[in-house]
Amino acid sequence: MTTEKYGPKAERWSRDAYADAATYFGRRGGLILSLGPSLQPGDALVDLACGDGALADYLPGIRYTGVDTSPEMVEVGRKRGRNMALGDLNDYEPPEPVAATTCFRAIYYAGDRAAFFRRVAGYTERKFVFDLNPRQYRLTDVRADLRDAGFDELALQPFFSPQHHSLPRPVLSALRALEQTGPIARAMLALRFSYLCAAFRGGKKM
Ligand SMILES: C[S@@+](CC[C@H](N)C(=O)[O-])C[C@H]1O[C@@H](n2cnc3c(N)ncnc32)[C@H](O)[C@@H]1O
Repeated sequence: MTTEKYGPKAERWSRDAYADAATYFGRRGGLILSLGPSLQPGDALVDLACGDGALADYLPGIRYTGVDTSPEMVEVGRKRGRNMALGDLNDYEPPEPVAATTCFRAIYYAGDRAAFFRRVAGYTERKFVFDLNPRQYRLTDVRADLRDAGFDELALQPFFSPQHHSLPRPVLSALRALEQTGPIARAMLALRFSYLCAAFRGGKKM
């Protein structure tokens, strides 16, 4: 049961799960704003399976709502001043449509991935941003499910920010440069790291 798994970790989630949370979330937040159609201050965003909602602190000007099934995570996020809701990503719907929906390190909690994407597409106006481990899911399968949900465009960014290691700045810069290398980046993704993905509607005929 995930609630039992994550509840006890809530108080220290961002500190314990990330060796350098500020650098990691800073990069993630920047890409959420810029990858695919951009987000602007005042845009609303729902972050599904958000943990303690720490991502909110790295999305300046964005009207953030974090959603999680763990009451402890929701409580910790609220204590830290973040807008949080208790909910399951499989059936959660925000009261109003949002510009963007995000889901990080949690796509595997979708019971039926295609149905989950359709639900997200129903309330997401600009883009759906998530991370994807290509060793766990075939990109072609995920792309097909996104297309069926109405997201006919997918921007992919290799994301070589280590979660469990705090690296010196020159090494981080070298990893960032490797993200842009096409075939080398894809070879690295066969072994480690993930993609950050932005799915959106490109306006083409479906
Ligand atoms: C690996 S953590 C990721 C947290 C955060 N997104 C991050 O990147 O640090 C997974 C989170 O998903 C939550 N969770 C698990 N199943 C869920 C579901 N069905 N709906 C919403 N949240 C869920 C857990 O409580 C936990 O906070």
